[in-house]
Amino acid sequence: MLQHERSGGAMQPEYHRATPECPQPQRWSMIDSMTAEVEVLEFIATLVTTLKPRLVVETGSFLGVSTEWIARGLERNGPLPDGSRARVISCEFDPVVYAKAKARLDASPLSPWIELRNQSSLEMHIDGTIDLFFSDSDLDIREAEVKRFLPQINPHGIILMHDASSHLKTVREAALKMESEGLISVVLLPTPRGLVVAQPRAGRG
Ligand SMILES: C[S@@+](CC[C@H](N)C(=O)[O-])C[C@H]1O[C@@H](n2cnc3c(N)ncnc32)[C@H](O)[C@@H]1O
Repeated sequence: MLQHERSGGAMQPEYHRATPECPQPQRWSMIDSMTAEVEVLEFIATLVTTLKPRLVVETGSFLGVSTEWIARGLERNGPLPDGSRARVISCEFDPVVYAKAKARLDASPLSPWIELRNQSSLEMHIDGTIDLFFSDSDLDIREAEVKRFLPQINPHGIILMHDASSHLKTVREAALKMESEGLISVVLLPTPRGLVVAQPRAGRG
């Protein structure tokens, strides 16, 4: 959080070390080392405008920067056909971090699209079908949270798992394991921290 405050929202070169799949990480930008790379934030917002999800679920809000980028895409998409709003539900289990994120997001013009919860992803209850699931909490629980929400993820929807670089390993291995179990189909984007773009196998016919 200190790093985020010191940066004042300014961009700096990405911190993650070079990997075989992403040898020049310094060409990417970041606000701080917890918040996703700026280019990844832009990619997620574009995915939101491309796919027009009704419900996005994010695990690991941190200060809510990625949540805001998702909400920016939802706002741009306009109201749903029934006149209601699409939403992003994001959970942050640390109460101190949650309070900071809540204060930031309550003051944002994008707050009508955002529901922030002070809960663990492994306990959070979601009603309805999830069109876009962004897994960005603790590395060690990513497999458990994807498996927990998979029955609710739209078969034509998208699952994103952040921090899937070959250096960070855990998330990459979890995604490939779930692929070998026949649960999801996986593409590994060679970004500095790595990003899995996946789809439930149920949607592949
Ligand atoms: C990498 S940061 C999220 C960054 C954020 N998505 C962004 O890009 O702006 C991970 C966050 O997940 C939170 N976290 C870890 N385990 C969690 C869990 N089981 N449920 C909810 N939040 C969790 C941590 O406290 C931390 O703030």
